[in-house]
Amino acid sequence: MKDQNFLTENNARHMWHPMAHPAEMQANPPRVIVGAEGVRIKDIDGHETVDAVGGLWNVNLGYSCKPVKQAISEQLEALPYYSTFRGTSNDKVIELSYMLREFFEPDGLSRAFFTSGGSDSVEICLRLARQYHKIKGSPGRIKYLSLMKGYHGTHTGGASVNGNANFRTQYEPLLPGCFHVPAPYTYRNQFDETNPERLSALCLRALEEQISFQGAETIAAFIMEPVLGAGGVIPPHPNFMPGVREICSKYGILLIADEVITAFGRTGGWTGSRLWGVKPDLMATAKAITNGYFPFGAAMVSGEIAEVFESDSTGNAMIGSGYTYSGHPVGAAAAVACLTETFRLKVPENAAARGTQLFEGLKKLKLKHGVVGDIRGGHGLMCALELVSDQASKKPVEKETAAKIYEATYNSGTMIRISGPNIILSPPLVSQATDIDQVLTSLDKGLASA
Ligand SMILES: Cc1ncc(COP(=O)(O)O)c(C=O)c1O
Repeated sequence: MKDQNFLTENNARHMWHPMAHPAEMQANPPRVIVGAEGVRIKDIDGHETVDAVGGLWNVNLGYSCKPVKQAISEQLEALPYYSTFRGTSNDKVIELSYMLREFFEPDGLSRAFFTSGGSDSVEICLRLARQYHKIKGSPGRIKYLSLMKGYHGTHTGGASVNGNANFRTQYEPLLPGCFHVPAPYTYRNQFDETNPERLSALCLRALEEQISFQGAETIAAFIMEPVLGAGGVIPPHPNFMPGVREICSKYGILLIADEVITAFGRTGGWTGSRLWGVKPDLMATAKAITNGYFPFGAAMVSGEIAEVFESDSTGNAMIGSGYTYSGHPVGAAAAVACLTETFRLKVPENAAARGTQLFEGLKKLKLKHGVVGDIRGGHGLMCALELVSDQASKKPVEKETAAKIYEATYNSGTMIRISGPNIILSPPLVSQATDIDQVLTSLDKGLASA
């Protein structure tokens, strides 16, 4: 490793960081993380913290997952790369596809299309949805519907269905034919409705109205996260996703579940769709599929869609999409080892138990700290605190206050993620009770600094 002076002098000088202003990064260089063990990370100054961000919702099994590290290094020796474009495959990706078929059977998904990450998986799902309708003889079904506040990655298709202006405005015009409906976000919504069940019904009605306004015969798919993540952890009422499923089926619209963060245990269910008892038509996955150790993802396809593609004799089902790294053997080996370990550890059980501990602790912090306007969670290890400068008016907190809370929380032993007015918490799913206690203690100190 280069020495500390070199790293400090060159930090953020020659690279642009994602989701950040380059000038701001130069003025306030990011923290340099140099090591990690278990659920803890260590920075260049030797300061250690619990990682309550879990990498970026992806290091579900922590930083010391030997089977995945070993699988990667062994695969690098055996076959470091070969393409899966028409004509060639590899042993690991075949094994993984078999494993995913078994894992996703309860979700009704039977085919995988491999990608290099979440944005790629979303893009493939969007594309396959349009192609499905073309094969079926409905080429006019080209539009996409999605939720305001939803996050679907940063490719142009994904950004077009994204429900947050921060990820859209500077890149407009985006894809035409994308329309948004209100999310079941009880703390702030256009209906001023705080009751989750009533709000869910209102949002479902808005969805149906949008469909009838656009014309169902023009809509390819509706995409949603089972629990909205990056938009501030917004768990819907349990009847929301089943309601969406019903509406989509009624109008022949495909349902894409964006499970880039929720697949493989994060919500306390094996998938977010399964948590709500819903079978989507397509599902985007990535992140925890390799525990974040290798960039990889899978777009999953339902049995019914697979049947339409596989029985096509016109040639229209030829898949004109693919990435150089689709089915990368090292990624596939990492995923096989990661999923084996994920099943062995039964991580959703721990995610549910530790998630409850975290959410209950956050409820106490809300009572104690006026800067906390809302807390959200209750479904596994994904929680958020929405910060306000005044609880009554719900005025969002100043950026400087959020930064102060972040610093104080970090200094007292926990890495958190600030996103707009939200603190987002997504610790590894193998976190122990003492780790969650540490997160809560650090947050208590952080919030007190506001
Ligand atoms: C729900 C969801 N979809 C898509 C993505 C994009 O994934 P990636 O950053 O791997 O491209 C993310 C990333 O956080 C996500 O949370």
